Amino acid sequence: MDSRESSRLRWVTLGSSEALVDEGLDVLHGLKQPSKTLPCRYFYDDRGSDLFEQITDLPEYYPTRTEQSILENCALEIAQLTGSCELVELGSGSSRKTRLLLEAYSQLHTQLQYCPIDVSAGILRTTALELLRQYPKLRLCGLAGTYEQALAHLPPAELENRMLIFLGSTIGNLSAEACDRFLTQIQHALKPGEYFLLGVDLQKEVSVIEAAYNDAQGITAAFNLNILNHLNHRFQGNFDLNQFSHWAFYNPVQHQIEMHLRSLKHQIVTLKALNLEVTLEAGETIQTEISRKFHLPTLTTTLESHALHPLHIWTDPQAWFGLLLCQRQCVGAECP
Ligand code: AVJ
Repeated sequence: MDSRESSRLRWVTLGSSEALVDEGLDVLHGLKQPSKTLPCRYFYDDRGSDLFEQITDLPEYYPTRTEQSILENCALEIAQLTGSCELVELGSGSSRKTRLLLEAYSQLHTQLQYCPIDVSAGILRTTALELLRQYPKLRLCGLAGTYEQALAHLPPAELENRMLIFLGSTIGNLSAEACDRFLTQIQHALKPGEYFLLGVDLQKEVSVIEAAYNDAQGITAAFNLNILNHLNHRFQGNFDLNQFSHWAFYNPVQHQIEMHLRSLKHQIVTLKALNLEVTLEAGETIQTEISRKFHLPTLTTTLESHALHPLHIWTDPQAWFGLLLCQRQCVGAECP
């Protein structure tokens, strides 16, 4: 990195960003429930992030490429609608799809300001350096931390307006209650008039959805099982990956994919660092992820109830995926 590039780069590290996660309290909690669960953020160690990148290229996994195709068509329109504004992205990862937005904003506006936020400081750094080289006028502020931390401690905006970006239907990992709390945080992080860009996977034929989580090459199965491998390394565990199988199905009542790991026999597993012993019956499952699929009118109502008004909604021709540009409304005493 040369000095002109480094002058356009800032880093913000949020508290001891991994402290809570490192202690594994969330793992303990989930495995002690009558129906066992694991927090899906544990998918994303280095190997898990790599497997997820492979998932996004699978023929069965439609969400990534569908969202990408929508963004290709509407990025310029978004940049026009919002005018010049600072882009803040939650869970930026490799920022692959965000490049379409950076391209559009750099074409239409003189200032280009981007804050990627990710728990993985490694991928954040690599991506930041690449983007600075690629966009000579880009100013970048990388935030390492969780969404909750980042939203509570966003650095002061460098531009007049801001747009929070949350792509990939990651919001689908949140239960309805957690989603409400998350949207309240978004509402408070934005001032009236500012923007929230949200990508969501939509309800569709069940066979299409189930195939996306049961790919023929078994990459999703490997991704699911890798969570146990991650726990073994992180918390001195002895999960035997051969004694579990991948199980993913669509729950039509909750409109969500549920991903589980099924124990193939009665077994006792220990996580030494957590001082935990887990007994699993043959056939018992651990839920590792939910991935909700949305109905646009219902989602619109939810957003509106958090003072987030969808100004414009784009979908692909099959309406498999939605991209919503919302504007923060004023409420009560905020209104002029
Ligand atoms: C990144 C959370 C949106 O739910 O589709 C992919 C993760 N899990 N295959 C999703 C995932 C299994 C993905 N999200």
